[in-house]
Amino acid sequence: MKKIRIPNTDIDASRLALGCMGLGGGWNDPDYTDVHVKQMRAFLDTAEEIGANFFDHADIYTKGKAERVFGQVMKERPSLRDKIFLQSKCGILFADDPQGSPHRFDFSADHIRKSVDGILGRLCADHLDILLLHRPDILWEGEEIAGVFRELKKAGKVRYFGVSNQNRFQMEYLQNFLDDPLTVNQLEMNLLHQGFAEVGISFNQYPAVYPNGWEGVIEYCRLKGVLLQAWSPLARGALTGADSGKLYRNVRKTAILVKKMAKEKGVSSEAIVLAWLLRHPAGIQPVLGTTRSERLKACAQADGIELSREEWYALFVAARGVDVP
Ligand SMILES: NC(=O)c1ccc[n+]([C@@H]2O[C@H](COP(=O)([O-])OP(=O)(O)OC[C@H]3O[C@@H](n4cnc5c(N)ncnc54)[C@H](OP(=O)(O)O)[C@@H]3O)[C@@H](O)[C@H]2O)c1
Repeated sequence: MKKIRIPNTDIDASRLALGCMGLGGGWNDPDYTDVHVKQMRAFLDTAEEIGANFFDHADIYTKGKAERVFGQVMKERPSLRDKIFLQSKCGILFADDPQGSPHRFDFSADHIRKSVDGILGRLCADHLDILLLHRPDILWEGEEIAGVFRELKKAGKVRYFGVSNQNRFQMEYLQNFLDDPLTVNQLEMNLLHQGFAEVGISFNQYPAVYPNGWEGVIEYCRLKGVLLQAWSPLARGALTGADSGKLYRNVRKTAILVKKMAKEKGVSSEAIVLAWLLRHPAGIQPVLGTTRSERLKACAQADGIELSREEWYALFVAARGVDVP
């Protein structure tokens, strides 16, 4: 699989990143089992087979079990650590953590510091390649975050920093305090969640359909060299065969077009859906959510194709349900 150099880093990451939210069993299961350890081993085997070297975690995924099962299998394969890149996220706290607390966000230095120690412990790793702040904390303080980032970098615990689900102004605000450039912004982007594309054509249109918060995000990231990572890049299978009983008309039409293009090119439908993101000149890195070997291989076929401008717009128009202005 092709690699991309993440700007302002020494990281050559696979074009497709592997998301780890599906590891470690159910979110409310008390612990992972042998089944999940086997799943994890197979996941790493397939990653190697398809040439994917970049893994996306978060401290909350399956309430810490995703990182723990990953760490357990990494201990069996110690030589792997130098061949892969580990990214994780912190800043979201579920309700009742601790008992009686509300669901909330926390970008305080104390919480970030403790979260990183927890992540490294669960992953059985001595450092993270990238730490992302998961969802904006309204009560954040730029200087405080810059201080703890500096401390984590100096301690060798985190090499680079980034954000997730942040708009352009939030990135600008935070960057103002940081010693180093933000390296990543991870956002939901797919054919059915296409605000990042819609915003590019909706200016000066009536009725105004500006997608909330997307103004300038893509341009800011391209200008500053912030890698855009797409979460839910397959729209959780809505265009590639997941339960289609309740699909909207535009979704049905797009799924048909995806299937037709896949047939013409001799690739999987997943490859077409991902190729739509990969064709964007910002160099978007999809973060896959499947952990199944067969679907991972189907996704990897995206690496070998490039959509034409005509194909890209045909998919865009089908998914938005109305023609471009
Ligand atoms: N930063 C954030 O706020 C944020 C939020 C959410 C996720 N993420 C990251 O992004 C990654 C990907 O997110 P995602 O899981 O939503 O992405 P996704 O790749 O769009 O969806 C993957 C999910 O859809 C299912 N799926 C795909 N095709 C299917 C089909 N044809 N039929 C039935 N099910 C199908 C997969 O099931 P199978 O496992 O059975 O293949 C899997 O559960 C996560 O792992 C995580 O790392 C980040």
